[in-house]
Amino acid sequence: MPDNLDYKAADTRYDGRMPYFRCGHSGVKLPAVSLGFWHNFGSVDDFDKAHATARCAFDNGITCFDLANNYGPEYGTAEENLGRMMDLSFRPYRDELFITTKAGYDMWPGPYGEWGSRKYLMSSLDQSLRRMRLDYVDLFYSHRYDPETPLEETMQALVDIVRQGKALYVGISNYPVETLDFCFSYLKERDVPCLIYQGRYNMMDRRVEENGILDKCYEAGVGFTAFSPLNQGLLSDRYLRGIPADSRMARNHFLKKEVLTMDLVSRLQRLNDIAASRSQTLSEMALAWLLKDSTVTSVLVGASSPEQILTDIKAVNNTGFTADELYEIDKLSR
Ligand SMILES: NC(=O)c1ccc[n+]([C@@H]2O[C@H](COP(=O)([O-])OP(=O)(O)OC[C@H]3O[C@@H](n4cnc5c(N)ncnc54)[C@H](OP(=O)(O)O)[C@@H]3O)[C@@H](O)[C@H]2O)c1
Repeated sequence: MPDNLDYKAADTRYDGRMPYFRCGHSGVKLPAVSLGFWHNFGSVDDFDKAHATARCAFDNGITCFDLANNYGPEYGTAEENLGRMMDLSFRPYRDELFITTKAGYDMWPGPYGEWGSRKYLMSSLDQSLRRMRLDYVDLFYSHRYDPETPLEETMQALVDIVRQGKALYVGISNYPVETLDFCFSYLKERDVPCLIYQGRYNMMDRRVEENGILDKCYEAGVGFTAFSPLNQGLLSDRYLRGIPADSRMARNHFLKKEVLTMDLVSRLQRLNDIAASRSQTLSEMALAWLLKDSTVTSVLVGASSPEQILTDIKAVNNTGFTADELYEIDKLSR
């Protein structure tokens, strides 16, 4: 144990500000807001700032940290940094944390370093556990559907991962709607029900509403967690007046500058006005918009600073919308 263990979690972390919602028909509850480690937690980022952000999240009731084998950049380094944070801060709180990881996208070279084979999923989770300095994860996801591997093989690997004690629950992410009946039934019949589906969902990307994924999860008693709920930061005040040098759009290629047209900026400004009329920031309103429906168990935000966390968690204070507000939001965001 390092001697710089100076962290004591805030006594107020469960003071009722953060709601916890039951995940589908399971016994486990997740915070309305979870923290994702895709960006801002890798080897290219400032570790102290990332650490402060994770501490701020936990201090404010965010008990769910979402990772994947290839989060960084560099691949694997978000998990390594979480491992450091476990030793520096969170080890005494392991039982209060719900830590997830995933495998599916490219992680290492050769035929066994991506997609959905048993070989890849099992090896990847072993690597993830070593990097994160954990004995088990709370939830392991198959990160994407593999059209070439039999679904039975991928699902059976998830079942066996739970039986081995390396994950308590399993979930799927980015799977097409046509595969859900099979996945949910296969897992349920083997007493390892799918806990949650992780999909992209925000005001500007409503595909999971339109293609029936949200409804299917709800009917099957499977939770749903919305990733990129701020559309990578577009649904915030970040880009209302240009492109800040420290923003995701300026720093990497995942959020392209070309998307920031004058039309988009004008629509974001009008959405920002609606948020202001509700006494919210745009990011608070965007998260509240997702949390207005009980089909969404948790919104999975990214954050590059503790201040962003402190803003985003305020979303839970006002998740009611008038019909007029919803109509205006629909017009501006689609
Ligand atoms: N399953 C999958 O395939 C998949 C795919 C993508 C993501 N995910 C998961 O979802 C998580 C979230 O995704 P995401 O990072 O795209 O989420 P997001 O919440 O849509 O975007 C996060 C970015 O929004 C900005 N932001 C957040 N709070 C803000 C605030 N209060 N004010 C101004 N700007 C704010 C920050 O941008 P700046 O960095 O510019 O400050 C932050 O990095 C990931 O970390 C990952 O865990 C999963």
